[in-house]
Amino acid sequence: MTSKIAILPGDGIGPEIIDEAVKVLNCLQANHGLDIEMESAHIGGAAYDESGSPLPQATLDLCKASNAILLGAVGGPQYESLERDLRPEKGLLGLRSELELFSNLRPAILYPQLANASSLKPEIVSGLDIMIVRELTGGIYFGQPRGIRSLEGGEREGYNTLVYAEHEIERIARSAFDVAMKRDKKVCSVDKANVLEVSELWREVMIRVSKDYPEVELSHMYVDNASMQLVKWPKQFDVMVTKNMFGDILSDTAAMLTGSIGMLPSASLDQNGKGMYEPIHGSAPDIAGTNTANPLATILSVAMMLRYSLNESVIADLIEQAVSDVLDQGIRTQDIADGGAYVSTREMGDAVVKALQK
Ligand code: IPM
Ligand code: MG
Repeated sequence: MTSKIAILPGDGIGPEIIDEAVKVLNCLQANHGLDIEMESAHIGGAAYDESGSPLPQATLDLCKASNAILLGAVGGPQYESLERDLRPEKGLLGLRSELELFSNLRPAILYPQLANASSLKPEIVSGLDIMIVRELTGGIYFGQPRGIRSLEGGEREGYNTLVYAEHEIERIARSAFDVAMKRDKKVCSVDKANVLEVSELWREVMIRVSKDYPEVELSHMYVDNASMQLVKWPKQFDVMVTKNMFGDILSDTAAMLTGSIGMLPSASLDQNGKGMYEPIHGSAPDIAGTNTANPLATILSVAMMLRYSLNESVIADLIEQAVSDVLDQGIRTQDIADGGAYVSTREMGDAVVKALQK
C-alpha cells in the first residue's frame, strides 16, 4: 500500500534541508522500492505569510490524511511581534495537539566520527546513546487556565497550569518502556516529586506501569539532579522519560553533549504509531538561504519515519548507514567541520544519495 507523506518545509532553513530529505526519499523510491506519495503544505511563518494562519485548515487536513509528516522548522525574528496565536510556534504546537502526538522521541547519539565536536571530554561522551522520551501534548504547555490577568490595584500576573491526568502519564510511561525494551532496558523517570504534586502522581503511575515491564529497570531522578548528571556522566542513561517542559530543556542539553545539534532527528508519535518527524534544531534564520545548513538531522528524521511509522526498518538502516559512510569519507557541513573544509547543504544531500546508490 502506498504511504502518504505530508511534507512541511516551514521557515528559515526548513525548505533547504527538506529539499535534501526529499532527494533521499526520491532515491529510495527509484532504487529501493519505497512505495510513497508526497504532498507539501505550509506551516508556521510561511503559512502565516500566505494565509494569515500558522496552521491553515488545509495543512491540518493533509496531515490528518497522511501516514506520516516530515517537517523542517518553524519560526523567525520577523514573526516575534505577532500576537501569540499567530506565531509560527503555534502551528507546531497546534499540530502536536490536534494529532495527539503525545510521545516525543529525541535520541542523543554521538557519532564516533564527530567525537571532537562535543564540548565535553571524549571519554565522557564517546559511545553516547540516550533516548529522551518527552511528553508532548500535556503539562504546562497546554494546561488551563493560562493567561495574564490584572489584580486589584492594577498589577498584572501571568499564570500557567501544570496538570497531568493519570491516562496521560500512563501512555507516555508505556511509550518509554516499549522503547527501552528495544534498547538497554533502563528507564530513568525525571520529575520534581520533592516539590510538585503532579510529579508525585507521575512517579506513582510510572511505578505502577513498570510492573508490566519486569525486565526494565526503572529509576527516578529529580530534574535538577538529572540536568547535572547529563553533563557529569551521561552514559549512565539509556531512556529518560519526562514531562513536556522538563523534556524541552533536557533534550537540548542532551543534544549539545553530541556537539552537533545539526545531526539529531526526532519523532512525535500518536497512539497508533502515526508520527511527525523533524530535526531537533530550529529554523536558524541567520543562515537561511545560504545553502550551508546541515541536512543530516532531517535525513535521519526520514530514517526514523521509515522505522516508526512506515514499518520499513531495512530501508531506515540503509539511510543511517549512508550517513555514517558520508561521515567516514570526511564530508562535513560547516557546523560539524571543526574549522576544516566543508560542503554545502546540497552537496551533503548529494553525498548521501550517492552513498545510498552504492
Ligand atoms: C522544541 C521547541 C518547541 C518546544 C518550541 C519551538 C515551541 O523548543 O520542539 O523543543 O518548546 O516544544
Ligand atoms: Mg525545545
